[in-house]
Amino acid sequence: MTLYSHPPGKGDRQCLRRKRRWQWMPGRLLLWTILLAFLLGCVSLAWRMTVSPDGGSEDMQLPVSSPAFDVVVDYPEEDPALLKIPVELAVTVPRLKNEPKVLVFVETQYSVVGREIVVELEAIRQRFRLEVGAKSIPLLTSEDRGKFNLIIFENVERYFRMDRWNRELLDRYCREYHVGIIGFPPILEHTLIAASVESLHLRLHTNIQLRDFELNASSPVLHVTKAEEIWSGILTGEDWTVYIPQHTAYEVVAWARPLGFVNETSFNENEPPKLPAVILDNGKLDRVRRIFFGQSLKFVLHRPLFLDAISFLLNPDVRPSLRRYVQIDIDDIFVGRRGTRMVADDALALIETMERWRKTIPRFRFNLGFSGKYFHAGADDENGGDDMLLANSHKFSWFCHMWGHSQAHLYNSSVEALVREMQFNRAFARDHGIPMNSSYVVSPHHSGVYPVHEPLYEAWASVWNAKVTSTEEYPHFKPMHLHRGFVHHEIMVLPRQTCGLYTHTIFLASYPGGIDRLERSINGGDLFMTLLRNPINVYMTHLSNYAHDRLALYTFESLFNFSRKWTNLELRSAPPLEMAQLYFRVFPQDAEPLWNNPCEDKRHMQIWSATKSCERLPKFLVIGPQKTGTTALYSFLLSHPAIRSTYRNPETFEEVQFFSGTNYYKGLDWYMNFFPGGVNSTTDFLFEKSATYFDNELVPLRAFSLVPHTSIISILIDPVRRAYSWYQHVKAHGDKVAAQYSFLEIVTANRDSPKPLQHLRSRCLRPGEYASHLERWLDHYPSTQLLILDGDLLKSDPVSVMHLVQRFLKIKPFVDYKDLIRFDKKKGFYCQVEATMKAPRCLGRSKGRRYPVMEADVEAVLQRYYQPHNVALHKLLTRLNQPLPLPKWLRADLQ
Ligand code: A3P
Repeated sequence: MTLYSHPPGKGDRQCLRRKRRWQWMPGRLLLWTILLAFLLGCVSLAWRMTVSPDGGSEDMQLPVSSPAFDVVVDYPEEDPALLKIPVELAVTVPRLKNEPKVLVFVETQYSVVGREIVVELEAIRQRFRLEVGAKSIPLLTSEDRGKFNLIIFENVERYFRMDRWNRELLDRYCREYHVGIIGFPPILEHTLIAASVESLHLRLHTNIQLRDFELNASSPVLHVTKAEEIWSGILTGEDWTVYIPQHTAYEVVAWARPLGFVNETSFNENEPPKLPAVILDNGKLDRVRRIFFGQSLKFVLHRPLFLDAISFLLNPDVRPSLRRYVQIDIDDIFVGRRGTRMVADDALALIETMERWRKTIPRFRFNLGFSGKYFHAGADDENGGDDMLLANSHKFSWFCHMWGHSQAHLYNSSVEALVREMQFNRAFARDHGIPMNSSYVVSPHHSGVYPVHEPLYEAWASVWNAKVTSTEEYPHFKPMHLHRGFVHHEIMVLPRQTCGLYTHTIFLASYPGGIDRLERSINGGDLFMTLLRNPINVYMTHLSNYAHDRLALYTFESLFNFSRKWTNLELRSAPPLEMAQLYFRVFPQDAEPLWNNPCEDKRHMQIWSATKSCERLPKFLVIGPQKTGTTALYSFLLSHPAIRSTYRNPETFEEVQFFSGTNYYKGLDWYMNFFPGGVNSTTDFLFEKSATYFDNELVPLRAFSLVPHTSIISILIDPVRRAYSWYQHVKAHGDKVAAQYSFLEIVTANRDSPKPLQHLRSRCLRPGEYASHLERWLDHYPSTQLLILDGDLLKSDPVSVMHLVQRFLKIKPFVDYKDLIRFDKKKGFYCQVEATMKAPRCLGRSKGRRYPVMEADVEAVLQRYYQPHNVALHKLLTRLNQPLPLPKWLRADLQ
C-alpha cells in the first residue's frame, strides 16, 4: 500500500523513488540473492561473533540483559551506620575496563543530536563508542564477550537502510547478546514523507507536525517519565515521525495527534487520530527490542524518556532509583551589597517555603553560609533581615567559610592566617547562637577547593573538623554534566551543580538572556536535566537570590513542580555529611581524585596561588620498567647542563613515585615541591624518573591528566634478563620470599603455591609483558611523545643513545656525550666523566651487580612465557616506527 500525506503530484516523484528503495520486496531473483547473502552472513557471523547461529522466533521468551550490564544504582537508606565511606576505598576500586559500552552511530563527529546523546550517556556514566555513519559495523565481540550493551542510531534511517549483510549481522548480535536498539528520526529537510520498512513491519510518516503528546501509562518503558498528563498544544518542529505498526510486536509508548491529514485512519479535523510518536518493538518480531522516537531530544519529554529507554533496554527488571537528593546552599549570608540583601520579610518567606517544601521533600533545610565580618552592613531594613535569620538560626543548617569572605589561594602558604580568619568566624557563630555542627565548609569562589590549596584543607580540618565541602570546578567548570566529587585528606568534596543563579541575578525581568531562558531551563531544560541525571544534587545560591524577586524560591519551586508533573522522581534531602556519604556510596570510584593541570584551565588559574607554577612539573618522564638501565639513563641525563630532575625523596631516593602509589593522594602541591623552582626553571628541562610507572595500571591516565604534553621515555631489555636482574635485586635487598625460593620456583609458581610466592612471581614477570603496558600508555599519549630505548644499546653505546634522546627532546644546547661519559674497565660499564671530577663517577654496587649466569632450564621457562608478549611487542614496535631499530634480542627471540 502506498502511503501519502497528500495525493501524489510532481513533487512526490522523488519521494516515490525513495519509497521504492525502502520497500525491500524481493522478486524471485532477489530472493535467491538474499538467501545466498544470508548464508554468507551466517558464516561471517560465526567468524565475527564466535557464537552458534540461532535465528529468532516469535514464541521465544525474550531474555533480559545480564546484570553486569546495568547502570542501575539504588540509593541506600540514610542509615548512618551503613554510610561510613572508607577513604581507602579510593585505592582499591577497580576500573571496569572491559565492561560493554553503548555503540552510537552518529552522522558526524559534531552532529547536534549525536552530541546530545553523548551528553546523556556521559551524564549517566555509560561508556560508549562513537561510529560515524553506519556503512560499516565495528567488531562486535571480543573473546566471546559482546562489546556493546546497547545500540543507538542518531539517524534511524541508517538502520532501516543498512545493507542486508550488515543489518543481519547487527540484528543477530542484538539477539545473541540481548542488546536493544534506540533510533531517532533524521533531521533532514527533504526527507521521506511516507514509507514502509517491510522487514520491520512498520510504516512511517515523516516530516509532519504534531500536537498533544500523550504517554501510554501502561508502557513498560516508562519509569522516570510520568504518564498522567497530556503535553497539550503544538509540539515544536515540523520534523516529527509517526510509526504505524503492522505487527503485534509493537507497543505504543507515546501518541500525538497530527496537525494535517495523514492517510492512515479516518481523519476528523476536530479530533485527529492519535498516532504513535514513540514506539517499542517488544522483541516478539525477531527477539530484538527496539525503541523508535518520533523526534530528536529537542522535545523536552524525550529527554527523560530517552533515559527510560536506555535503562529499559539495558535491563527492564532492574530500573534506576527514582530518588533525587537535593541540597540548596545559600552563600554570602551577611555579605551582599547594600540594596541587594534580604529584609525581614524575605527571611520569613524563606522559612515558610522551607517548611512547605519539607512536606514533599523529607528533611529539607536550607544551608546557610556566612561571613560574620559583614553582619549588619546593609541598610536598616536589610539589617532587620540579618536579625530575622539569626532569630531563626536553629531552623537552618549552617556552614562556615572565611570571616571576611576572602579567597584561600590569596593566602599563599600561610595556614596560620587562614586559621585566624576561620576562628574569627567561629567566634561570631558562638556569640550569635549559630549552630555549627554540619561538618560542611565552603570556600568563596571555590578558591582552594580545586585546584587544591593544601593550607585550606589543613585549616578546615583544624578549625572546623571539616568532613565535606563542594565545588563546581572539579574536574572543570564545563561541561557541567561532568562535575564529579573526590576525597582529599579525608574531606569529601561533593560536585556542585549549576542552577543559573548568581549574585547579580536578583530580578526576574532582568534575568540574563531573558525570562524565557530561565523558564526553558526549568521546564525540561538544563536545570531540569541536572536534577534528572544526578542522584545527589548540591546547588549554590546567594543571599541576593532570596531578596527582591526571590528568584531562587521561584526557580526551585517551579523546578520541583515541573518534576512532579512529568516525572516519578522522589525528592529527598539530607544534611551535607549524609549527602556526601551517599554520593560516595553510589559512586565509590569517584573518591579517587584525578589531578589535572591547573594551567590548562583559565578558571583554575584564577583561583591558584601566584606562588605556584606549572613550570614545576616535568617536561619528560622516564617511566622504567625497573632493571633496564633507568638509573644509568637518569645519571647521564643529569650531566646535561639544561636538564634537572626532582629533589630526592627521603623514602624512595631519586624516584618520587608520585603517580604510582599512595603519594598521589598527597596532592599536586606535594609533587611540585620536588621540582626546583626559581630563576632558571622556565628554561630548564625538568624531568622525573620513577621506574615503577611503566607497568602500573593507573599511571598513564594520571600522568596524562596532569602533564599531557610531557614526553615519555621507556627502556626495554630482554624481559627474561630483566626478570632475573629483578630477582637478584630483591634478593640483595633482603626480600624474605625471594631468599626462601629459587628463581625457578618463583617463576613457576602457580595457583596452588603460597600467596606470597604467587605475588612475587607476578611482580617479577608482569613488567616484562612490555606490549600490554605500552598499549596502556598509548591509550593516552600520542606515539610521537613516546621514546622507547634499547637497554642493551644504552649499556654498550650510551653516547649514541644520549644523542638520540637529545634530538627527541629537542633540547638545547646539544651536548656531545663523548665528553661526558666513558667506559670504565673496573666497573665494566660506562660512567660519568666531567672536567671537575678526579675519577669517573660510576653507579653504585647495586647497579651492574655480579651474579651467576641464569640456569638454562629457567631461561627456557621464561622464554616460553614471554613468547606471545614478544610477538605483540614486535607488532607494536613495527607499528610505532620508533627511531631505533628493533632490539637484537627481540629479533633473535622471534626467529
Ligand atoms: P644489573 O645490576 O642486573 O646488571 P635500573 O637502574 O633500571 O634498576 O637498572 C639496573 C641495570 O642497569 C643493571 O642491572 C645494569 O645491567 C644496567 N646498566 C646499564 N647501564 C649501566 C651503567 N652504566 N652502570 C650500571 N648499570 C648499568
